[in-house]
Amino acid sequence: MEKKNLDWANLGFGYMTADYRYVSNYKDGKWDDGEITTDANIVLNECACVFQYSQSCFEGLKAYTTEDGHIVCFRPDLNAERMKETCERLEMPPFPVDRFVDAVEQVVKANEAWVPPYGSGATLYIRPFMIGSNSVIGVKPADEYQFRIFVTPVGPYFKGGAKPLTIRVSDFDRAAPHGTGHIKAGLNYAMSLHAIVDAHNNGFDENMYLDPATRTKVEETGGANFVFITKDGKFVTPKSDSILPSITRRSLMVVAEKYLGMTVEHREVAFEEVKDFAECGLCGTAAVISPVGKIYDHGKEICFPSGMDEMGPNIKKLYDTLTGIQMGKLEAPEGWIKTIL
Ligand code: PLP
Ligand code: COI
Repeated sequence: MEKKNLDWANLGFGYMTADYRYVSNYKDGKWDDGEITTDANIVLNECACVFQYSQSCFEGLKAYTTEDGHIVCFRPDLNAERMKETCERLEMPPFPVDRFVDAVEQVVKANEAWVPPYGSGATLYIRPFMIGSNSVIGVKPADEYQFRIFVTPVGPYFKGGAKPLTIRVSDFDRAAPHGTGHIKAGLNYAMSLHAIVDAHNNGFDENMYLDPATRTKVEETGGANFVFITKDGKFVTPKSDSILPSITRRSLMVVAEKYLGMTVEHREVAFEEVKDFAECGLCGTAAVISPVGKIYDHGKEICFPSGMDEMGPNIKKLYDTLTGIQMGKLEAPEGWIKTIL
C-alpha cells in the first residue's frame, strides 16, 4: 500500500478530503445497509432539520500506525456508546453500536493510504457524525437522518505541539445546568465559537469553563477535559453532569492508577483549589494531553510550577504511557485496541 505523499510531520489539525467515506441513511424507521462512497458532499433541502434546528451530533476518534506496522483504533466501542447516548438525548435514531464499530473499520481500511506512518507524530482523525436530513419547519425532530464517517490525517490540535498552553477563565458558558453539556451535540460547539474567537483575539489558547450554575467549579474547555496533579502526586479530574465524559480522561484514570500507581480522584474541583495544583493538562482525542502552564482569571494569573517550557513530569508520564498504549509500544488493557489492518 503506497501512502499519500504528505508532509506528515508538519500537519496541523485541519481537514483534508480523503478518498473514501462511509454513509448510511435512515428512512421509514430504519437504517439502510450503508456503504463506502467517494462523494465528500451532501446535498440537502434548505429546510433540513440540521439547518433549521441544529439537529446534529458527532464523535471523534483516531487510527494509529503501531510500531510493528499494524493500523489500530483506540476504544471505538466507547465512541459508539457515547453517540448512542447523545442520539437518545437529541431524539435521533442511534446507529447500532456494532455497526458503528464496523463502519469505522471499513472507512479506515478504505483510506489506508491516508493513515500517517508510525513515528511521524500524525494520526488519522476519524469523524463520525449524524444529521437530521429531511425538511422540518415546526420545531420537532426530523424523521430522516444521515450517519456518515469521514477521516482526515492530523497533527497536534494546539500549535506548538507539547508547549504548555495559556488559557483563561471564560465569562461565557458552553453548557446549561440540566442542558446538553454531557453529550456530543454540535450545538455545544456553536455555543463555544464566540468564546474561542474572543479567547484567541486576546492571546489565549483556550477557555476554561466553570460550572454554569455557580461559576465556582471547574468544568472543561471547548474540546477537552481537565487533568490536575496535586503537589503530592495525586491525579485529580473534575466530575460534573454538564461536561463530556471524555474517553481519554476515562482511559487516563486507568493509566494513572494501574500503570503509574497514582491515587485517582474523580470529583468536583473547586476553582479555588486550582492555584494549589502542581500540574495541569487538557485531555481528549484531539488534544491527547496538552499541558497547561498558565491560567488567566480576570487580571490574576495562576502559574503552575511546571512552567511554560515543557510538560510537567507527571503529565509527561501520563502522555508517554497513553500514547505508548495507543501506538502498540506498551501492552493495552483488554479490549482497548481494535486492530484494523
Ligand atoms: N470535552 C469536549 C467538549 C470535547 O469535545 C472532547 C472531544 O471529544 C473531549 C472533552 C474529550 O473527549 P474524548 O477524550 O472522548 O475525545
Ligand atoms: C475530539 O477530540 O475528538 C473533539 O471532538 C474535540 C474537537 C475540539 C476537535
